[in-house]
Amino acid sequence: MSPTSAADSALWHPFADMATVREQELVIVSGDDVWVWDDSGRRLLDGTASLWHANVGHGRREIADAVADQLRRIETYQAFGDLVTEPARALAARLAALAPMPEAKVFFGSGGSDAIDTAAKLARAYWIERGRPERTQLIARTASFHGVHGYGTSIGGTGIGAGVGGLVPGASLVPHDSVGALRAELERIGADHVAAVFVEPVMAPGGVYLPPEGYLEAVQALCDDTGVLLVVDSVVCAFGRLGTWFGTERWNLRPDMVCFAKGVTSGYLPLGGVVVSGRVAEPFWSRPGGPIFAHGVTYAGHATCCAAAMANLDLLERDGLLARGRDLERPLLEALTGLADHPLVARIRAGVGLLGAVALAPDLLQREPSAPARLYELVRDAGVLVRPVGDGVAVAPPLTVQVEHLEQIGTAVRAGLDGL
Ligand SMILES: Cc1ncc(COP(=O)(O)O)c(C=O)c1O
Repeated sequence: MSPTSAADSALWHPFADMATVREQELVIVSGDDVWVWDDSGRRLLDGTASLWHANVGHGRREIADAVADQLRRIETYQAFGDLVTEPARALAARLAALAPMPEAKVFFGSGGSDAIDTAAKLARAYWIERGRPERTQLIARTASFHGVHGYGTSIGGTGIGAGVGGLVPGASLVPHDSVGALRAELERIGADHVAAVFVEPVMAPGGVYLPPEGYLEAVQALCDDTGVLLVVDSVVCAFGRLGTWFGTERWNLRPDMVCFAKGVTSGYLPLGGVVVSGRVAEPFWSRPGGPIFAHGVTYAGHATCCAAAMANLDLLERDGLLARGRDLERPLLEALTGLADHPLVARIRAGVGLLGAVALAPDLLQREPSAPARLYELVRDAGVLVRPVGDGVAVAPPLTVQVEHLEQIGTAVRAGLDGL
């Protein structure tokens, strides 16, 4: 286990085969818009907006300046008790005004996993305060990814809970594309024992699964009928990825909570949070001396992260980027559909928002389970970064991408497939 060479890294990469990666890191040193450069000077097209977050593209001076200004004033100050900084207050007000639910409040954390665990705990805390402590069950969908903290690991549908011992009790998984299965699970448990249902509008990290026609509206109706809280995980889908602020608007969802992260700062600094409806906030906000939600991290409402977010939201508005997540969904679909005739491709999943996946043929995956990782390497050799996910590779470039870049992504993936 001691270092094997000068190239050997001490950095333990997330979700990585360290025995292989330890001497084979790809060091990214700079970025500009949709491009990044590695330490050998090679330019790569960022086909995944880093990890689904660089919505405004890389190297934006406006955000760097806003961050530097805030750091010079004060880096941050905690937001516990009655303390706050101006950027945190302003960002909360801005997000609440944009939110797809009435009287919204905003609870900040450091990223998407924080947001999911906050929402899960708050859902249960809400029902305790409503005198219904038996409403604890959390329902999520197969192929869903809800981050890596305790609750997110326990409810996620990609199997990351295997191999870490016990999980948070009271979680169930239902097939991601079946309203009937969700209804049956609510009946099996008894809806009056269910705290919340978690849904990603488009399920991104699990493999880019689009919601079947009418699915999300039907989930909303089930929640309306049963009182079960609807928690939307828009960690990927918000801030333009689906062409709207919170990734819920295209289906007129009225969630009780929306989890966000990534695109809120386009990743310039780490930030996430939960937009909470007035209904869920009410027990905690209406009576001095009433219940307190005993939860929150040191960097909740970090001033410099919030300043980065404000500058990022300005760019999304000023440059008309929000709508591009929708405007570019067809060109992306067309660029990927051009690959559907390849013998190694099973299907293309795209068409809602600026994200998609190329799924590989099942017999190839059976023969060679590492085919998605191998394809990622081959596409990278062709000058484009994509991301291995489940049964293939995913694409989700910055919202600043041009149609010719999408075509370039398609060409590089074809070259990778030919190499396979
Ligand atoms: C849908 C979804 N939820 C939650 C998370 C967790 O977010 P973070 O990595 O910021 O903790 C992710 C991360 O990729 C995600 O894609």
